[in-house]
Amino acid sequence: MDANALFKISYGLFVLSANDGKKDNACIINTLQQVSSDPLMVTVAVNKSNYTHDIIDKTGLFTASVISEAANFELFKRFGFQSGKSVDKFENFPHYLRAVNKTLAVTEGTCAYISAEVVKKLDLGSHTLFAAKVEEAKILSDTPPATYAYYHANIKPKAETKKETGKTIWRCKICGYEYEGEDLPDDFVCPICKHGKIDFEKV
Ligand SMILES: Cc1cc2nc3c(=O)[nH]c(=O)nc-3n(C[C@H](O)[C@H](O)[C@H](O)COP(=O)(O)O)c2cc1C
Repeated sequence: MDANALFKISYGLFVLSANDGKKDNACIINTLQQVSSDPLMVTVAVNKSNYTHDIIDKTGLFTASVISEAANFELFKRFGFQSGKSVDKFENFPHYLRAVNKTLAVTEGTCAYISAEVVKKLDLGSHTLFAAKVEEAKILSDTPPATYAYYHANIKPKAETKKETGKTIWRCKICGYEYEGEDLPDDFVCPICKHGKIDFEKV
């Protein structure tokens, strides 16, 4: 099997937000799809180790902001490279509006938002698939939405060439995290973006 074939799948990118009753939180996902038109439904697949997962599991409410080609890497660092379990991701971040369902839509580096209420959940092992009915949707700008391929080519900083240390480096193809060591354990999970060994390359 060539698992690299899965990198040929095209995805959009989204800031997925939820509110735990006290605090707003959000993470970056590439796993949102429209799956029906009547009723209008979307699905999102969220890793169980994400704090956003736990909030959506509890409240059943979220807003997904569609990331545009105007987004900068800071947006990905803020929402995709740290967890709301330990930081307040919306601290000093004024670029949002509150949707009708009380979750936040990000208004900078995005071109639309979709608010939805979960109607079904499916346990998929590492992730939960939430199927949700769209309750509100709005276009924010005419800038084209960013694809995952666009993010890798134009937004994610190019990996620096490491000085020769004599040690083997394994780099996460998703977020760029580097692991030093001859062998990467089979059960290794990227501490930043939670992707497994299959998404690492030897550099
Ligand atoms: C480009 C990119 C794509 C990502 N895609 C997903 C995804 O589809 N599903 C997911 O659960 N996490 C995804 N992540 C990882 C989460 O955004 C990340 O683990 C985040 O820190 C979780 O934050 P939280 O614990 O506050 O929810 C992605 C991260 C990046 C940078």
